[in-house]
Amino acid sequence: MTFAEIVRADATTSNEEVLAWVTEVAELTRPDEVVWCDGSQAEWNRITGEMVEAGTLIPLNKNLRPGSFLARSHPDDVARVEDRTFICSTDEADAGPTNNWMAPDAMKAELTPLFEGSMRGRTMYVVPFSMGPVGGAITQLGIELTDSPYAVLNMRIMTRMGQAALDGITPGSEWVRTVHSVGAPLAAGESDVAWPCNSTKYITHFPETLEVWSYGSGYGGNALLSKKCFALRIASVMGRNEGWLAEHMLLLKLTNTETGKAYHLSAAFPSACGKTNLAMLQPTIPGWKVETIGDDIAWLRPGTDGRLYAINPEAGFFGVAPGTGESTNPVAVETLWGNTIFTNVALTDDGDVWWEGKTDEVPAHLIDWQGNEWTPESGRVAAHPNSRFTVPIQQTPTLAQEWYEQNGVPIDAILFGGRRATNVPLVARSLSWEHGVFVGATISSEKTAAQEGTVGELRRDPFAMLPFCGYNMADYWGHWLDMGRELGDQAPKIFQVNWFRKGADGRFLWPGFGENSRVIDWIIRSVEGSVEGRETAVGTVPAAGELNLDGIDVPEADLEELFSIDAASWLAEADLTEEFFAQFGDRLPAALTGQLEQLRQRLGAA
Ligand code: OXD
Ligand code: MN
Repeated sequence: MTFAEIVRADATTSNEEVLAWVTEVAELTRPDEVVWCDGSQAEWNRITGEMVEAGTLIPLNKNLRPGSFLARSHPDDVARVEDRTFICSTDEADAGPTNNWMAPDAMKAELTPLFEGSMRGRTMYVVPFSMGPVGGAITQLGIELTDSPYAVLNMRIMTRMGQAALDGITPGSEWVRTVHSVGAPLAAGESDVAWPCNSTKYITHFPETLEVWSYGSGYGGNALLSKKCFALRIASVMGRNEGWLAEHMLLLKLTNTETGKAYHLSAAFPSACGKTNLAMLQPTIPGWKVETIGDDIAWLRPGTDGRLYAINPEAGFFGVAPGTGESTNPVAVETLWGNTIFTNVALTDDGDVWWEGKTDEVPAHLIDWQGNEWTPESGRVAAHPNSRFTVPIQQTPTLAQEWYEQNGVPIDAILFGGRRATNVPLVARSLSWEHGVFVGATISSEKTAAQEGTVGELRRDPFAMLPFCGYNMADYWGHWLDMGRELGDQAPKIFQVNWFRKGADGRFLWPGFGENSRVIDWIIRSVEGSVEGRETAVGTVPAAGELNLDGIDVPEADLEELFSIDAASWLAEADLTEEFFAQFGDRLPAALTGQLEQLRQRLGAA
């Protein structure tokens, strides 16, 4: 049979564009079989069964963790590979100074020999998926072709995968084409190794043709192409072209339990700043019900009423396991009761999973993430620091019904935060949308300790999008500025938060976790106009008495330090920002240079 015949034999669409593309990729990669995925439970059962049989998935104890499995990756394939990630726009300047770039033709020429026959001996799965509710106003559709059954299972959790998505891909409609191969064909007679991958890796994006080609890695963000590749890198470009935003943001619903009024906020934080914890916040103060809509990605688009609406385009969490425990995130622990794929965590003697921080008590014996015997005396971690859980979002006990909402939720406030020991106050409201964009553009975390009156070396991560923006970061800031002009008075208010400020003695000044609900309470009251705040050079902070501190003991001196603005040290930071901005040359929007100058003036005046 020809590949055209193989592809069409079981095809579940009559869309010639789809059929021609799947055939073209099959002719290139030469799989043994082509399987059209429908997203059904029967399909899940069949694929997990085959993987258990092949030894590539370990079923967990059905009583302790029903419907759940453990996967162990190759030890060299445990994380996203940013140095192998490319934005392939025609013009290098469109990728900008913060992305790796190669011209589309040159990249295709480099990839073609790698993909040639790369699926030989394996099955090519056709995985249609919807990002957002099928038919929704902000939703987008895509297809992933992959030779990894592990990727198929994860895609079924992370997206609305299956026939409804494929039916939505009609001739002439816009959809995203993604191709994934773990690489290197199997030799004749060889059965698939436990975790196939290749030492050569390419994660490549073609924003002008809405394509992703990923080679050589089976892991998370490199293989689940709906997530970072589509929902952030490609979608950010679609958003720029079409007047919306694809952001590395969590989404929360907050309900005032007295008035019943609901608010929605989105928040961007770089990795390792507690984003998943905030997405599953349990407030420590009365008066608020907090519900989860998303933990990683938000798409935001102006609605017909002129307000900014947001959806979480995903259908699951691909969360970092270590540090997720009863004391830090009980909601996540409850969410993981079953139907979960764990990757690179440790296996307990009774067939359950464990990772550092899951429980205070450390098990006496485990099988570690690489399949070796482990005891607390082993002197190494049991779970890989980037080990993950993949779990359906519907299992979240605090899930807001608005996750299902076709057209998203109206956003009241946008938060930007980093991990800053110095300078940045616990919370500050931006003075304007333009100032808020400047705040987002200057998000950073400290890499090194600061001397007094200075700042430590900063790891910049503007909008927490540094590895995820699919075009020139300066143009992206320009797009944010344009969106603000379009939204006008209806634009959400922008806040900067910092849970990580330290005192001179190196202590955290703020307790964080559930107590962050106090900060969110002030943010909402600021949006409502029921608190005035106190204006500083860097934004409006809570005035004395405005932050609800009932029931916690934050010493007066700490509180003062949490909101202190040291002009010398902020001016030093302004010089670092000027250096950072300089790399964008004349693509940098003039409004941001203007904001930097205004900040300096306010600091001088302070
Ligand atoms: C993630 C990340 O995996 O941001 O979500 O790195
Ligand atoms: Mn993320």
